[in-house]
Amino acid sequence: MLDSMGPRAQWRTQSGFILAALGAAIGLGNIWRFSYVVADNGGAAFLAVYFGTIVLVGLPLLLVELAIGRLTQREAASAFWQLGRTAPWRGAGLIGVLTSFVILTYYGVITGWALKYFAAFATGLYPLQAGTADEYFRAFSASPIEPILWQICIMSVTVGIVLAGIEGGIERANKILMPVLAALVIALAIHSLALPNAGHGLTFLFAPSWEALLEPRVYLAALGQAFFSLGLAMGILVTYGSYLPRHQRLPAAGAVIVLGDTLFAMAAAIILFPAIFSFGMSLDQGPGLAFVTLPEIFARMTGGQFVGIAFFGLLVLAALTSFVALLEVPVAFAIEWWGMSRAKATISIGVTAVILGVPSSLGFGPWSGITLVGMPIMDAIDLVASNILLPLSGLAIVLFAGWHWHKADAFAAVGFTRGWLAGLWWGLVRYLAPAAIIIIFLRSLAVF
Ligand code: TRP
Repeated sequence: MLDSMGPRAQWRTQSGFILAALGAAIGLGNIWRFSYVVADNGGAAFLAVYFGTIVLVGLPLLLVELAIGRLTQREAASAFWQLGRTAPWRGAGLIGVLTSFVILTYYGVITGWALKYFAAFATGLYPLQAGTADEYFRAFSASPIEPILWQICIMSVTVGIVLAGIEGGIERANKILMPVLAALVIALAIHSLALPNAGHGLTFLFAPSWEALLEPRVYLAALGQAFFSLGLAMGILVTYGSYLPRHQRLPAAGAVIVLGDTLFAMAAAIILFPAIFSFGMSLDQGPGLAFVTLPEIFARMTGGQFVGIAFFGLLVLAALTSFVALLEVPVAFAIEWWGMSRAKATISIGVTAVILGVPSSLGFGPWSGITLVGMPIMDAIDLVASNILLPLSGLAIVLFAGWHWHKADAFAAVGFTRGWLAGLWWGLVRYLAPAAIIIIFLRSLAVF
């Protein structure tokens, strides 16, 4: 089935691959999700835990996934199917593909909101009056039709990019969009730092109150955020890695991706927190932080319309390059597992994801009375994806790598040549990462 399809698609350049992987990693997770997770979990102390998680669990796992993709030249589910020797191990990639698909459904809703806000600021239709942001967001997100139209709009663009394939679609889009993204984030961070009292926001971000470290939920939040932000255990790094030629050096590329994603999240936090503190806004907005608190600030700020255009432009671009990756995971699966054509796979999965995303969208309006496990629909789906499917998939992958794969094969696949780094990586993959995932997962079950 697989080999009858001719030569496999590949990235054209190494930098094209790194940009595409960074595009996948940098998304709503770095701006919208990161900011409220940091705010909810005590600021600087959370950051310390987060950095530790990224280095000790995130990077080792990222290398495993890239290596498995490059070695097998298969998308995630097929890759583990090929490498595993016995039944349960062979299924280790399937949960990840499922998780990507689940996230794809509601990611489109939020990306649609970002597009709407960008359009509203760009056309000058956004009401730049203090005190209106809350009502504006409520009215928009509760409308039964409008958010769904924006969701369809962003999905159409994404389908267009994924249809054009790896090199001509995904690589090319990232090469154009990522530099714009970098320019926007730097300009906005400088602008934020120049606001009066910006220092209070920086104190919250960088001066830890260590008692937060005693709370187990902080560790769970850090692990969940690390997985979400790097796109770990969701098939994406296996899939993107599978389009790499076999001679690529992985450890360096992995480090660049992890560093870039983390720096970007920090830059986003440096945009948000000084502005929030400077305007005396409250931090407890949860997911509404980017769509309520910030527009309210833009309404009160001189030149707020332009800052708003830049910020929501940033949000749309960051989300779009991730959305492309989220769609590519199930598309590559459908192509390789079911033998579909790229066109048929992309269009049918795009349409299905929009339809399945509609309940998440309606949960903010006509269906707000419906709750699953006591939460609005989107929160419940995010909880299942981020706190249950993700850790399970992560555990399956890390146990596969550390306990099922042969050590020599694993080292060869990653391309480790030097001793101590390779040994450290192996120790983290074999012991620390699974232990961290298990402990935090069990604690989180007890927390609910
Ligand atoms: N990493 C992305 C972000 O930070 C979101 C994401 C989660 C993702 N899972 C993914 C992107 C899978 C691509 C593929 O927003």
